[in-house]
Amino acid sequence: AQILQKKKKKMPLPHAVLITYPTAGQLNPMLQLAQLLHSQGFYITFVNTEFGYRQLLRGNASLDALFGRFNRSSFRFVSIPDGICESDLQGPGYLLNVWFSIVRNCPAALHELLLELNSSPDVPRLTCIITNFLVTFPRDVADRLGVPELVFWTTSACGLMASLHVRELVRRGYVPLKDESCLTNGYLDTAIDWIPGMKDIRLRDISSFIRTTDRDDFYLKEEMEEADYALKSQGLILNTFEGMEGEVLDALRGFFPRIYALGAIGSLIDQISGSAATTTPMRLGSWDEEEEEDRRCAEWLEAQQRGSVVYVSFGSITTLTRDELAEFAWGLAESGRPFLWVVRPGLVEGGIEALPGGLVEETKGRSLLVKWCHQGKVLSHPAIGVFLTHGGWNSMMESVARGVPMICWPGFADQYTNCRYACKHWGFGMEIEEEVRRGQVTEVVREALEGEKGEEMRKKAMEWKEKARRAAAEDGTSFTDLARLANDLTQLTT
Ligand code: UDX
Repeated sequence: AQILQKKKKKMPLPHAVLITYPTAGQLNPMLQLAQLLHSQGFYITFVNTEFGYRQLLRGNASLDALFGRFNRSSFRFVSIPDGICESDLQGPGYLLNVWFSIVRNCPAALHELLLELNSSPDVPRLTCIITNFLVTFPRDVADRLGVPELVFWTTSACGLMASLHVRELVRRGYVPLKDESCLTNGYLDTAIDWIPGMKDIRLRDISSFIRTTDRDDFYLKEEMEEADYALKSQGLILNTFEGMEGEVLDALRGFFPRIYALGAIGSLIDQISGSAATTTPMRLGSWDEEEEEDRRCAEWLEAQQRGSVVYVSFGSITTLTRDELAEFAWGLAESGRPFLWVVRPGLVEGGIEALPGGLVEETKGRSLLVKWCHQGKVLSHPAIGVFLTHGGWNSMMESVARGVPMICWPGFADQYTNCRYACKHWGFGMEIEEEVRRGQVTEVVREALEGEKGEEMRKKAMEWKEKARRAAAEDGTSFTDLARLANDLTQLTT
């Protein structure tokens, strides 16, 4: 392992090793959790794969810029070889390439690192290991070292609860699907009323990985294995809060011995650091490029009217077909409303060049296209009226924390569950149908910005923002869960 921080004398601090998966949706919340535990007096070793670490360094002027006033003598970054090369990142199969490369190359390196850390006189004794839910291989070594291992499940509690029941869906014969027609013949609308803590959901609201006719489907099996892995952990950390998902959290307590709900995790950092820290550490381009993108976004947003802009982003891994891209593009254009759209490299084959010719001309003065932005800052801007999102959980929580209503177009995994809850239970969301059509995009955008439904969603979004603020405030549920987590982690090892 490449240890990037100078070795320090042994200190009597509790020592948490946090292991992330290297995509923005996993890395961002894990870094936030690291910041939180560090603020509670923990020595942190943050383990990334080399690929993730390179991205982190590239997108930040320096590690100091990342952590500002946090004391780096008790926070260090470590990377382990993952064997990911440039060619793995090309083409539609890149996510699987990354996954397989990590699974092939990282377990041994990680085991070695943990053993080394545990016996090193230069760092405090290991107190706990916290893994991302996609990193399902450090348990053996954690057991061997006698160190508790907790899982940070970075989706919603309802998303997790649905995932936990995929095995039961298979057992009861709902999954795999009998044939392809089940995708379109209404079968996915079958009500699922027996998952504890979850109401008003259908088969289609459960992780997209159940939409297969193959019992041995890779994603289906992975989904079940990740859930099994989490179930055997000594504790579960979530980026949600009691006021938002209390019913599901209560039901989850039947499955996990210890649950810590720290959401909205960004708000908790703001509370603890005493300022509105809008750090989004994972960037796709270089520092300079992205500073320039941030400046363009800020300037453009300043020129827009309050609450008038549609912010469009589909997260860090969702992909669109060229047809879907064109439907969104023309739907937005025809809405006549200003929009800021993140068209990241890889979103669609051909990148930003794949946008329909004439779109920029047609929407001149009211559209801004960027490759990546500082989402926290953009969502905080008063010009933003609505967020057109894929419903990734980080995006949703970032939007909730800022009181921005959402238009959801889920793409895969937990995003369907998040979308259902946003529209049906939390009241701040509207949905765009799976087969996206420009007419519907136009209609929903106008309704969300100016219609009655939009008014209702804005009201709800502001209520949720206030609830999120209260959860993160001193004595709020997320604030006290953080203190409980810090306390339990030190108790578990003694
Ligand atoms: C993944 C899964 O796809 C999602 O289903 C799951 O809920 C979380 O993990 P991802 O698809 O990348 O995540 O979406 P999301 O959870 O929204 O995370 C994206 C992150 O990238 C957010 O923290 C967002 O702020 C950040 N981002 C996105 C930027 O900083 N800039 C951008 O331009 C776009």
